[in-house]
Amino acid sequence: MDKVKIGVIGCGNISPIYLSNLTRVFKNVEVKYVADRIHERAVKRSEEYGPKAVSVAELLADPEIEIVLNITNPDQHTIVNRQILAAGKSAHSEKPFNGFLDDAKELIDIANQKGLRIGGAPDTFLGAGIQTCRKLIDDGYIGEPVAGNAFLLCHGHESWHPDPEFYYKKCAGPMFDMGPYYITALISLLGPVKRTVGFTKKTFPTRKITSEPKYGTIIDVDVPTHVAGTMEFANGATVQLTTSFDVWGAKSLPCIEIYGTEGTIVVPDPNGFGGPVYLKRFNTEFKEMPLTHCYAENSRGLAVADLASAIRHGRKHRANEQLCYHALEVMHSFELSSDSGRVYELKSTCERPAPMKQVLEKGEID
Ligand SMILES: NC(=O)c1ccc[n+]([C@@H]2O[C@H](COP(=O)([O-])OP(=O)(O)OC[C@H]3O[C@@H](n4cnc5c(N)ncnc54)[C@H](O)[C@@H]3O)[C@@H](O)[C@H]2O)c1
Repeated sequence: MDKVKIGVIGCGNISPIYLSNLTRVFKNVEVKYVADRIHERAVKRSEEYGPKAVSVAELLADPEIEIVLNITNPDQHTIVNRQILAAGKSAHSEKPFNGFLDDAKELIDIANQKGLRIGGAPDTFLGAGIQTCRKLIDDGYIGEPVAGNAFLLCHGHESWHPDPEFYYKKCAGPMFDMGPYYITALISLLGPVKRTVGFTKKTFPTRKITSEPKYGTIIDVDVPTHVAGTMEFANGATVQLTTSFDVWGAKSLPCIEIYGTEGTIVVPDPNGFGGPVYLKRFNTEFKEMPLTHCYAENSRGLAVADLASAIRHGRKHRANEQLCYHALEVMHSFELSSDSGRVYELKSTCERPAPMKQVLEKGEID
Protein backbone atom coordinates (compact mmCIF):
# COMPACT_ATOMS: atom_id res chain seq x y z
CA MET A 1 0.00 0.00 0.00
CA ASP A 2 1.24 3.49 -0.76
CA LYS A 3 2.51 5.47 2.21
CA VAL A 4 0.34 8.16 3.74
CA LYS A 5 2.03 11.54 3.41
CA ILE A 6 2.12 13.63 6.55
CA GLY A 7 2.90 17.21 7.50
CA VAL A 8 3.95 18.18 11.03
CA ILE A 9 3.03 21.58 12.51
CA GLY A 10 4.96 22.50 15.67
CA CYS A 11 8.69 21.82 15.97
CA GLY A 12 9.24 22.33 19.70
CA ASN A 13 10.30 20.13 22.58
CA ILE A 14 8.25 17.01 21.81
CA SER A 15 8.78 17.04 18.05
CA PRO A 16 12.09 15.04 17.92
CA ILE A 17 10.59 11.78 19.22
CA TYR A 18 7.59 12.09 16.88
CA LEU A 19 9.84 12.83 13.91
CA SER A 20 12.30 10.11 14.83
CA ASN A 21 9.55 7.46 14.95
CA LEU A 22 7.51 8.75 12.01
CA THR A 23 10.56 8.99 9.72
CA ARG A 24 12.42 5.86 10.88
CA VAL A 25 10.09 3.35 12.57
CA PHE A 26 6.58 3.37 11.09
CA LYS A 27 6.57 1.93 7.59
CA ASN A 28 3.20 3.21 6.38
CA VAL A 29 3.86 6.95 6.63
CA GLU A 30 6.13 9.51 5.01
CA VAL A 31 6.70 12.86 6.68
CA LYS A 32 6.96 15.29 3.78
CA TYR A 33 7.02 18.63 5.64
CA VAL A 34 7.71 20.27 8.99
CA ALA A 35 6.45 23.76 9.84
CA ASP A 36 6.56 26.09 12.83
CA ARG A 37 5.61 29.72 13.27
CA ILE A 38 9.23 30.15 14.39
CA HIS A 39 10.64 29.01 11.06
CA GLU A 40 14.18 28.35 12.36
CA ARG A 41 12.74 25.56 14.51
CA ALA A 42 11.33 23.87 11.41
CA VAL A 43 14.67 24.30 9.63
CA LYS A 44 16.48 22.63 12.53
CA ARG A 45 14.11 19.66 12.52
CA SER A 46 14.43 19.44 8.74
CA GLU A 47 18.21 19.18 9.09
CA GLU A 48 17.87 16.52 11.79
CA TYR A 49 15.13 14.32 10.29
CA GLY A 50 14.85 15.11 6.59
CA PRO A 51 11.36 16.48 5.84
CA LYS A 52 11.33 19.85 4.07
CA ALA A 53 10.85 22.96 6.25
CA VAL A 54 8.00 25.05 4.85
CA SER A 55 5.42 27.56 6.07
CA VAL A 56 2.14 26.29 7.54
CA ALA A 57 0.35 27.65 4.46
CA GLU A 58 2.65 25.75 2.06
CA LEU A 59 2.23 22.54 4.05
CA LEU A 60 -1.55 22.82 3.98
CA ALA A 61 -1.66 23.69 0.28
CA ASP A 62 -0.04 20.44 -0.88
CA PRO A 63 -2.78 18.04 -2.09
CA GLU A 64 -0.51 15.04 -1.41
CA ILE A 65 -0.67 15.58 2.35
CA GLU A 66 -3.40 13.41 3.89
CA ILE A 67 -2.71 13.78 7.63
CA VAL A 68 -1.38 16.74 9.58
CA LEU A 69 0.10 16.17 13.02
CA ASN A 70 -0.62 19.17 15.26
CA ILE A 71 2.02 19.40 17.99
CA THR A 72 1.66 23.08 18.72
CA ASN A 73 0.93 24.51 22.18
CA PRO A 74 -2.44 23.64 23.78
CA ASP A 75 -4.00 27.10 23.20
CA GLN A 76 -3.27 26.67 19.46
CA HIS A 77 -4.72 23.18 19.03
CA THR A 78 -8.22 24.28 18.02
CA ILE A 79 -6.98 27.06 15.73
CA VAL A 80 -4.54 24.77 13.93
CA ASN A 81 -6.97 21.81 13.80
CA ARG A 82 -9.52 24.12 12.17
CA GLN A 83 -6.92 25.16 9.54
CA ILE A 84 -6.01 21.52 8.88
CA LEU A 85 -9.62 20.44 8.32
CA ALA A 86 -10.34 23.53 6.20
CA ALA A 87 -7.46 22.45 3.96
CA GLY A 88 -9.13 19.05 3.50
CA LYS A 89 -6.69 17.03 5.58
CA SER A 90 -7.23 14.69 8.52
CA ALA A 91 -5.85 15.92 11.84
CA HIS A 92 -4.12 14.26 14.75
CA SER A 93 -3.67 16.69 17.62
CA GLU A 94 -1.48 16.59 20.70
CA LYS A 95 -3.38 16.70 23.96
CA PRO A 96 -5.56 18.13 25.17
CA PHE A 97 -7.91 17.56 22.26
CA ASN A 98 -9.05 21.09 21.39
CA GLY A 99 -9.36 22.24 25.02
CA PHE A 100 -12.98 23.36 25.10
CA LEU A 101 -15.92 21.04 24.48
CA ASP A 102 -17.75 23.36 22.08
CA ASP A 103 -14.64 23.71 19.92
CA ALA A 104 -14.08 19.97 19.95
CA LYS A 105 -17.67 19.32 18.89
CA GLU A 106 -17.48 21.90 16.10
CA LEU A 107 -14.30 20.33 14.74
CA ILE A 108 -15.69 16.80 14.90
CA ASP A 109 -18.76 18.01 12.96
CA ILE A 110 -16.56 19.65 10.32
CA ALA A 111 -14.47 16.47 9.98
CA ASN A 112 -17.60 14.33 9.62
CA GLN A 113 -19.15 16.68 7.05
CA LYS A 114 -15.97 16.62 4.98
CA GLY A 115 -15.34 12.89 5.32
CA LEU A 116 -12.07 13.56 7.17
CA ARG A 117 -10.66 11.98 10.31
CA ILE A 118 -9.77 13.75 13.54
CA GLY A 119 -8.23 12.34 16.68
CA GLY A 120 -5.56 12.99 19.19
CA ALA A 121 -3.03 12.11 21.82
CA PRO A 122 -2.15 10.23 23.82
CA ASP A 123 -1.04 7.12 21.99
CA THR A 124 0.62 5.52 25.01
CA PHE A 125 -2.50 3.40 25.60
CA LEU A 126 -1.65 1.60 22.34
CA GLY A 127 1.74 0.54 23.73
CA ALA A 128 2.72 -2.84 25.14
CA GLY A 129 2.10 -1.97 28.80
CA ILE A 130 -1.53 -0.82 28.70
CA GLN A 131 -2.40 -3.33 25.93
CA THR A 132 -1.10 -6.15 28.18
CA CYS A 133 -3.26 -4.86 31.06
CA ARG A 134 -6.22 -4.70 28.75
CA LYS A 135 -5.73 -8.29 27.63
CA LEU A 136 -5.42 -9.47 31.23
CA ILE A 137 -8.63 -7.64 32.22
CA ASP A 138 -10.52 -8.77 29.10
CA ASP A 139 -9.37 -12.37 29.64
CA GLY A 140 -10.81 -12.27 33.18
CA TYR A 141 -7.58 -12.40 35.23
CA ILE A 142 -8.93 -9.97 37.87
CA GLY A 143 -12.59 -10.98 37.53
CA GLU A 144 -15.04 -8.08 37.36
CA PRO A 145 -13.34 -4.67 37.80
CA VAL A 146 -14.58 -3.13 41.05
CA ALA A 147 -12.46 -0.04 41.68
CA GLY A 148 -9.16 1.66 41.05
CA ASN A 149 -6.73 4.38 42.06
CA ALA A 150 -4.71 6.66 39.82
CA PHE A 151 -2.16 9.30 40.79
CA LEU A 152 -0.06 11.86 38.99
CA LEU A 153 1.65 13.96 41.63
CA CYS A 154 4.57 16.24 40.81
CA HIS A 155 5.59 19.88 41.01
CA GLY A 156 4.97 20.86 37.41
CA HIS A 157 7.28 21.33 34.45
CA GLU A 158 8.95 24.71 35.09
CA SER A 159 12.13 23.03 36.32
CA TRP A 160 12.92 21.37 32.95
CA HIS A 161 10.80 22.66 30.02
CA PRO A 162 12.46 25.60 28.21
CA ASP A 163 9.09 27.35 27.58
CA PRO A 164 6.87 26.12 30.45
CA GLU A 165 4.40 29.04 30.59
CA PHE A 166 1.70 27.16 28.66
CA TYR A 167 1.39 24.52 31.38
CA TYR A 168 -0.29 27.12 33.65
CA LYS A 169 -2.65 28.60 31.06
CA LYS A 170 -6.11 27.50 29.85
CA CYS A 171 -6.23 24.03 28.29
CA ALA A 172 -3.33 22.90 30.49
CA GLY A 173 -2.67 22.41 34.21
CA PRO A 174 -2.21 18.88 35.53
CA MET A 175 -5.63 17.60 34.47
CA PHE A 176 -5.41 18.72 30.85
CA ASP A 177 -1.68 18.07 30.52
CA MET A 178 -1.33 14.71 32.29
CA GLY A 179 -4.96 13.66 32.78
CA PRO A 180 -5.29 12.57 29.12
CA TYR A 181 -2.78 9.73 29.68
CA TYR A 182 -4.63 8.45 32.73
CA ILE A 183 -8.20 8.93 31.55
CA THR A 184 -7.57 7.51 28.08
CA ALA A 185 -5.81 4.47 29.56
CA LEU A 186 -8.68 3.94 32.02
CA ILE A 187 -11.34 4.25 29.29
CA SER A 188 -9.39 1.79 27.16
CA LEU A 189 -9.23 -0.62 30.12
CA LEU A 190 -12.69 -0.15 31.64
CA GLY A 191 -14.90 1.55 29.05
CA PRO A 192 -16.72 4.89 29.22
CA VAL A 193 -17.32 7.00 32.33
CA LYS A 194 -20.85 7.62 33.60
CA ARG A 195 -20.43 10.30 36.26
CA THR A 196 -17.78 12.06 38.28
CA VAL A 197 -17.24 14.22 41.30
CA GLY A 198 -14.27 16.53 41.71
CA PHE A 199 -12.45 19.02 43.90
CA THR A 200 -9.95 21.47 42.49
CA LYS A 201 -7.59 24.08 43.88
CA LYS A 202 -4.78 26.42 42.90
CA THR A 203 -2.22 26.31 45.70
CA PHE A 204 0.40 28.66 44.22
CA PRO A 205 -0.84 31.78 42.33
CA THR A 206 2.54 32.14 40.57
CA ARG A 207 5.36 29.82 39.50
CA LYS A 208 9.06 30.59 39.09
CA ILE A 209 10.83 29.11 36.07
CA THR A 210 14.03 27.34 37.15
CA SER A 211 14.97 25.91 33.73
CA GLU A 212 17.05 27.73 31.14
CA PRO A 213 16.81 30.01 29.20
CA LYS A 214 14.03 31.71 31.20
CA TYR A 215 15.40 31.13 34.72
CA GLY A 216 13.72 33.42 37.26
CA THR A 217 10.72 34.36 35.08
CA ILE A 218 7.46 34.37 37.04
CA ILE A 219 4.38 32.69 35.52
CA ASP A 220 0.85 33.69 36.60
CA VAL A 221 -1.16 30.54 37.20
CA ASP A 222 -4.58 30.64 35.46
CA VAL A 223 -5.75 27.05 36.08
CA PRO A 224 -6.34 24.65 38.98
CA THR A 225 -3.09 22.89 39.83
CA HIS A 226 -4.54 20.22 42.12
CA VAL A 227 -7.49 18.22 40.77
CA ALA A 228 -8.88 15.30 42.77
CA GLY A 229 -11.88 13.33 41.65
CA THR A 230 -13.76 10.07 41.50
CA MET A 231 -15.07 8.50 38.31
CA GLU A 232 -17.89 6.01 38.17
CA PHE A 233 -17.54 3.97 34.98
CA ALA A 234 -20.53 2.61 33.05
CA ASN A 235 -19.42 -0.92 34.07
CA GLY A 236 -19.86 0.08 37.74
CA ALA A 237 -16.17 0.41 38.68
CA THR A 238 -15.20 3.52 40.65
CA VAL A 239 -11.72 5.00 40.22
CA GLN A 240 -10.16 7.81 42.20
CA LEU A 241 -7.84 10.06 40.20
CA THR A 242 -5.64 12.87 41.50
CA THR A 243 -3.53 14.99 39.17
CA SER A 244 -1.41 17.65 40.82
CA PHE A 245 1.40 20.09 40.09
CA ASP A 246 1.37 21.13 43.77
CA VAL A 247 3.14 18.13 45.30
CA TRP A 248 6.91 17.84 45.76
CA GLY A 249 6.86 14.07 45.92
CA ALA A 250 4.93 10.98 46.95
CA LYS A 251 6.77 7.91 48.17
CA SER A 252 4.76 4.86 47.29
CA LEU A 253 1.63 5.68 45.30
CA PRO A 254 0.97 3.73 42.11
CA CYS A 255 0.34 5.37 38.74
CA ILE A 256 -2.77 3.20 38.26
CA GLU A 257 -4.09 0.13 40.07
CA ILE A 258 -7.29 -1.70 39.14
CA TYR A 259 -8.98 -3.91 41.71
CA GLY A 260 -11.25 -6.75 40.57
CA THR A 261 -13.36 -9.46 42.20
CA GLU A 262 -10.52 -11.98 41.67
CA GLY A 263 -7.37 -9.92 41.81
CA THR A 264 -5.45 -6.69 41.30
CA ILE A 265 -3.52 -5.36 38.35
CA VAL A 266 -0.79 -2.74 38.66
CA VAL A 267 -0.84 -0.72 35.45
CA PRO A 268 2.45 0.87 34.32
CA ASP A 269 2.94 4.63 33.92
CA PRO A 270 0.37 5.62 31.26
CA ASN A 271 2.78 8.33 30.08
CA GLY A 272 4.99 5.52 28.76
CA PHE A 273 4.57 2.63 26.35
CA GLY A 274 6.12 -0.28 28.26
CA GLY A 275 5.82 -2.13 31.57
CA PRO A 276 6.13 -3.35 34.20
CA VAL A 277 2.71 -4.94 34.67
CA TYR A 278 2.03 -6.74 37.97
CA LEU A 279 -0.83 -9.13 38.67
CA LYS A 280 -2.11 -10.59 41.94
CA ARG A 281 -4.77 -13.32 41.79
CA PHE A 282 -6.74 -13.96 45.00
CA ASN A 283 -4.28 -14.46 47.88
CA THR A 284 -1.15 -15.06 45.79
CA GLU A 285 1.84 -12.67 45.70
CA PHE A 286 2.11 -9.96 43.01
CA LYS A 287 3.86 -11.36 39.90
CA GLU A 288 5.39 -9.38 37.04
CA MET A 289 3.62 -10.43 33.86
CA PRO A 290 5.28 -10.76 30.44
CA LEU A 291 4.18 -8.07 27.99
CA THR A 292 1.86 -9.56 25.41
CA HIS A 293 2.03 -6.77 22.81
CA CYS A 294 4.50 -4.80 20.71
CA TYR A 295 5.66 -1.21 21.14
CA ALA A 296 7.16 -1.18 24.63
CA GLU A 297 9.72 1.48 23.68
CA ASN A 298 8.94 5.20 23.29
CA SER A 299 6.63 4.96 20.28
CA ARG A 300 5.13 8.44 20.12
CA GLY A 301 3.52 8.71 16.71
CA LEU A 302 1.93 5.25 17.03
CA ALA A 303 -1.59 6.72 16.88
CA VAL A 304 -0.63 8.71 13.77
CA ALA A 305 0.59 5.53 12.10
CA ASP A 306 -2.62 3.84 13.29
CA LEU A 307 -4.68 6.67 11.77
CA ALA A 308 -2.79 6.29 8.48
CA SER A 309 -3.38 2.54 8.49
CA ALA A 310 -7.06 3.04 9.39
CA ILE A 311 -7.49 5.37 6.41
CA ARG A 312 -5.95 2.81 4.04
CA HIS A 313 -7.89 -0.14 5.52
CA GLY A 314 -11.20 1.74 5.87
CA ARG A 315 -11.49 1.01 9.59
CA LYS A 316 -11.92 3.24 12.66
CA HIS A 317 -8.73 4.78 14.03
CA ARG A 318 -8.09 3.93 17.65
CA ALA A 319 -7.27 7.40 19.04
CA ASN A 320 -10.49 8.62 17.47
CA GLU A 321 -12.72 11.64 17.99
CA GLN A 322 -15.30 9.91 20.23
CA LEU A 323 -12.60 8.69 22.59
CA CYS A 324 -10.89 12.11 22.62
CA TYR A 325 -14.15 13.96 23.16
CA HIS A 326 -15.29 11.67 25.97
CA ALA A 327 -11.89 11.92 27.70
CA LEU A 328 -12.04 15.72 27.30
CA GLU A 329 -15.49 15.86 28.89
CA VAL A 330 -14.21 13.76 31.81
CA MET A 331 -11.28 16.19 32.25
CA HIS A 332 -13.63 19.18 32.34
CA SER A 333 -16.10 17.39 34.61
CA PHE A 334 -13.93 17.58 37.73
CA GLU A 335 -13.78 21.38 37.69
CA LEU A 336 -17.48 21.63 36.77
CA SER A 337 -18.35 19.36 39.68
CA SER A 338 -16.04 21.25 42.03
CA ASP A 339 -17.49 24.64 41.04
CA SER A 340 -21.11 23.48 41.27
CA GLY A 341 -20.73 21.25 44.31
CA ARG A 342 -22.65 18.52 42.45
CA VAL A 343 -22.02 15.16 40.86
CA TYR A 344 -21.43 15.59 37.11
CA GLU A 345 -23.32 13.26 34.73
CA LEU A 346 -21.35 12.70 31.53
CA LYS A 347 -23.25 13.63 28.38
CA SER A 348 -20.91 11.82 25.99
CA THR A 349 -19.84 8.23 25.77
CA CYS A 350 -17.57 6.19 23.50
CA GLU A 351 -16.69 2.66 22.52
CA ARG A 352 -13.51 1.13 23.82
CA PRO A 353 -10.99 1.39 20.98
CA ALA A 354 -10.11 -1.96 19.40
CA PRO A 355 -7.13 -3.69 21.04
CA MET A 356 -3.87 -3.67 19.11
CA LYS A 357 -2.80 -6.79 17.23
CA GLN A 358 -0.52 -8.93 19.34
CA VAL A 359 2.00 -10.02 16.75
CA LEU A 360 3.47 -7.24 14.64
CA GLU A 361 6.83 -6.49 13.07
CA LYS A 362 8.36 -3.26 14.38
CA GLY A 363 6.89 -0.41 12.36
CA GLU A 364 3.72 -2.31 11.39
CA ILE A 365 0.15 -1.61 12.56
CA ASP A 366 -2.22 -3.95 10.67
N1 LIG B 1 7.28 18.39 25.91
C1 LIG B 1 6.82 17.22 26.25
O1 LIG B 1 7.48 16.41 26.93
C2 LIG B 1 5.44 16.80 25.77
C3 LIG B 1 5.09 15.47 25.97
C4 LIG B 1 3.87 15.03 25.48
C5 LIG B 1 3.02 15.91 24.86
N2 LIG B 1 3.35 17.22 24.73
C6 LIG B 1 2.38 18.11 24.09
O2 LIG B 1 2.89 18.48 22.82
C7 LIG B 1 2.47 19.82 22.51
C8 LIG B 1 3.71 20.65 22.24
O3 LIG B 1 4.52 20.61 23.40
P1 LIG B 1 6.05 21.07 23.34
O4 LIG B 1 6.61 20.72 24.63
O5 LIG B 1 6.68 20.56 22.08
O6 LIG B 1 5.85 22.66 23.26
P2 LIG B 1 6.89 23.73 22.69
O7 LIG B 1 6.44 25.05 23.19
O8 LIG B 1 8.26 23.27 22.97
O9 LIG B 1 6.67 23.62 21.09
C9 LIG B 1 5.48 24.02 20.43
C10 LIG B 1 5.87 24.57 19.08
O10 LIG B 1 4.68 24.89 18.36
C11 LIG B 1 4.91 26.12 17.65
N3 LIG B 1 3.62 26.74 17.39
C12 LIG B 1 2.72 27.20 18.30
N4 LIG B 1 1.64 27.66 17.68
C13 LIG B 1 1.82 27.50 16.36
C14 LIG B 1 1.04 27.78 15.21
N5 LIG B 1 -0.17 28.34 15.32
N6 LIG B 1 1.55 27.49 14.00
C15 LIG B 1 2.78 26.93 13.88
N7 LIG B 1 3.57 26.64 14.93
C16 LIG B 1 3.09 26.91 16.17
C17 LIG B 1 5.78 26.93 18.60
O11 LIG B 1 6.48 27.95 17.93
C18 LIG B 1 6.69 25.85 19.18
O12 LIG B 1 7.89 25.70 18.44
C19 LIG B 1 1.66 20.29 23.71
O13 LIG B 1 0.31 20.09 23.47
C20 LIG B 1 2.13 19.39 24.85
O14 LIG B 1 1.12 19.21 25.82
C21 LIG B 1 4.56 17.68 25.14
